[in-house]
Amino acid sequence: MKIAVMPGDGIGREVTAQAVKVLKAVIGRTQPLELAEAAIGQAGIDAAGDPLPSATTDIARKADAILFGSAGMPGDEAIPFMMRPGASLLRLRKELGLFANFRPAFLFPELIGASTLKPEVIEGLDIMILRELTGDVYFGEPRGSGVNAAGQREAFNTMRYSEPEIERIAHVAFRTARERRRKLCSVDKANVLEVMQLWREVVARVSAEYPDVEVTHLFVDAAAMQLMRAPRQFDVIVTGNIFGDILSDAAAMLTGSIGMLPSASMAAGTFGLYEPVHGTAPDIAGKNLANPLASILSMAMMLRHSFGQTANAQRVEDAVRRVLADGLRTGDIFQPGCTRVGTEEMGDAVAATVLR
Ligand code: NAD
Ligand code: IPM
Ligand code: MN
Repeated sequence: MKIAVMPGDGIGREVTAQAVKVLKAVIGRTQPLELAEAAIGQAGIDAAGDPLPSATTDIARKADAILFGSAGMPGDEAIPFMMRPGASLLRLRKELGLFANFRPAFLFPELIGASTLKPEVIEGLDIMILRELTGDVYFGEPRGSGVNAAGQREAFNTMRYSEPEIERIAHVAFRTARERRRKLCSVDKANVLEVMQLWREVVARVSAEYPDVEVTHLFVDAAAMQLMRAPRQFDVIVTGNIFGDILSDAAAMLTGSIGMLPSASMAAGTFGLYEPVHGTAPDIAGKNLANPLASILSMAMMLRHSFGQTANAQRVEDAVRRVLADGLRTGDIFQPGCTRVGTEEMGDAVAATVLR
């Protein structure tokens, strides 16, 4: 198992260390584990003057999977786009063709009181948000900024999808729905944007190949509202890059905390990048306060999707559940009566539980 480990910046470093700890515990000596650490984000700038050093891309290409922390620092926006620590992740996604981003929003019953939503609204929640990850306004050309004819500063980006890009993610979405509850909701803004009209047309056309999957279409504003009103109506949600970014953070709050949400970004085969949905959390970085469970659960997704190790993935997920049942909580999911622990203690507890 060759894994590129990219802790990145801020709490990315702290949470990734816990995921590696649990990985070592679950794999033990049963299998050779080759971990190659690579610098990315501000760490890449410090090491090689580039947020995505070529040495890092090389390590990524030689690996079976990437375990990623988070990248990006406050004040990033002042740096030219391609040199920003946060942009390293976008470049990596594009260069490695990681177009399918799975963001499961799943409620651990123990955390039902940690969510800001009413228990009866979120009980049994199990949604898969599938976000297209290499197109849309994130990568559309032209983009830039300058001065317009009237002498005013102006900036622009382009929301753009080609038919094959939409088809490709639609097939992944229907196949994913088939493995779950066979319900797919495609989210767009077809009432306003041509690109989203194309999105809806293509998804509807592809749906004819999956008559066993029930497909619905929602506009993104209505989808955001429905996600808060009655989230359990959803099984799989497929959407574009920017809408998926926003809806997945919103979905995080249904599960109690953004510190609980894992993700997998897949290319065509089993190669994938696994990362928590959250960012570098500069407000709590370096204080042993971050919740490492999103990172640990991302590692479990890696075991399942890149290495076919379903039983080990399950062991990690069960260990997380048991640690939560034992009442251990980081600050973001703390509830009265529970035991408050730090990042490392939470990682230690999951690793010890995996071994039990
Ligand atoms: P953020 O996710 O870093 O933080 C948002 C809030 O959630 C903060 O209050 C933070 O303390 C809290 N939080 C996040 N993760 C947590 C965890 N594991 N445990 C406990 N609390 C947690 O989002 P932001 O503040 O908007 O962004 C900060 C930086 O991170 C920016 O530079 C942004 O570009 C970058 N970012 C990177 C990624 C990534 O690498 N995948 C994702 C999102 C944001
Ligand atoms: C995410 C992040 C990234 C994104 C940023 C850091 C570039 O918010 O992974 O959700 O917008 O895709
Ligand atoms: Mn995001």
